[in-house]
Amino acid sequence: MNTSVIKIDRNNIKDEDFSEACSVLKRGGLVAFPTETVYGLGADALSESAAKKIYAAKGRPSDNPLIVHIADIKALYELASEVPESALKTAEKFWPGPLTMILKKSEKVPDGTTGGLKTVAVRMPSDEIARKLIALSGLYIAAPSANASGRPSTTTAEHCVEDLSGKIEMIIDGGAVMIGIESTIVDLSGDKPEILRPGFITIDDLKTVLPDVVYDPAVLKTKPSDNTVARAPGMKYRHYAPKGELTIFEGEPFAVIDRINSEAKQRTEEGAKVGILATDETRDKYLFGKVISIGRRENEEEIAAHLFAVLRSFDDEGLEYIYSESFSHGRLGQSIMNRLLKAAGYKLLDVK
Ligand code: TXA
Ligand code: MG
Repeated sequence: MNTSVIKIDRNNIKDEDFSEACSVLKRGGLVAFPTETVYGLGADALSESAAKKIYAAKGRPSDNPLIVHIADIKALYELASEVPESALKTAEKFWPGPLTMILKKSEKVPDGTTGGLKTVAVRMPSDEIARKLIALSGLYIAAPSANASGRPSTTTAEHCVEDLSGKIEMIIDGGAVMIGIESTIVDLSGDKPEILRPGFITIDDLKTVLPDVVYDPAVLKTKPSDNTVARAPGMKYRHYAPKGELTIFEGEPFAVIDRINSEAKQRTEEGAKVGILATDETRDKYLFGKVISIGRRENEEEIAAHLFAVLRSFDDEGLEYIYSESFSHGRLGQSIMNRLLKAAGYKLLDVK
């Protein structure tokens, strides 16, 4: 299949820019498009066969449900069999934006979209290109992150080309995304609201409308030996992993730098290719290996925005061992570490 890439200028978005993408989606094809979180791989959410194509293109296990993207709150009543008061309050506060809600699904939503679950994940993105695509196509768009299954999510159109070229009809290039980590997922289908995936919207943000919200215990996992099973099916799979073996070091900053330097020295002397995930503040302190800065440590939004691109760049360099600093502090610490720990297969070393 020939994948066309269409560039849209964010300063001058026109309806005609979307006509070809809308026809592809309407005839059951696949279009990768930007959202504020990561790029999505879109298809008609109410078509069983279109959803199937998503799984095939990504190489994704079919029990891993898709998020349905909407542009109008009215869609909730079509997609969900019940819309609790808590969902309306949450939508009013956080939509459009990087938040996904899990609700009981209506008959309309095919099992192919929800991986056979009786619930459906719904999100109204704030990205203008995403919203226009949904509105102009007149569809609800099922969209997982637009990466090959297991690889880091895509935050630029170039990443989508890398992973999906030849497998999908079209990629809309809207430049690099704003946020860089996927939406927060909150399950409102049970008795108590539960966060199944942390994201840009934090538990404290959610508590303003859902005072009794808690984390799914699997979100708090930090060790490979912890066998808690995630409630979001996708969260149980190996994810985001670069090809090299990634280890995260946590502890007092200078102790971490010393320890990474000594590990990197040893591996380099053994003839291995080493990568180091550093920050602008520390990059000059590493003496061995290929050092890649993720941005300024003081700016956690920058760190979140660069995370997946940096993990991908380690692959481009063919590095075998990757040593990373830890980013567990601050507003986004939980969300950044959730991805980084998964990428590392939970290999986290406490440096004393
Ligand atoms: O920011 C995002 O959410 C991006 C953009 C494209 O919107 N999408 C995204 O989709 O991250 P994906 O498929 O990569 O991740 C969706 C996650 C998976 O872990 C999946 O298992 C979970 O949401 N999920 C979807 N439907 C669910 C449901 N009914 N119950 C529990 N978890 C669900
Ligand atoms: Mg994903």
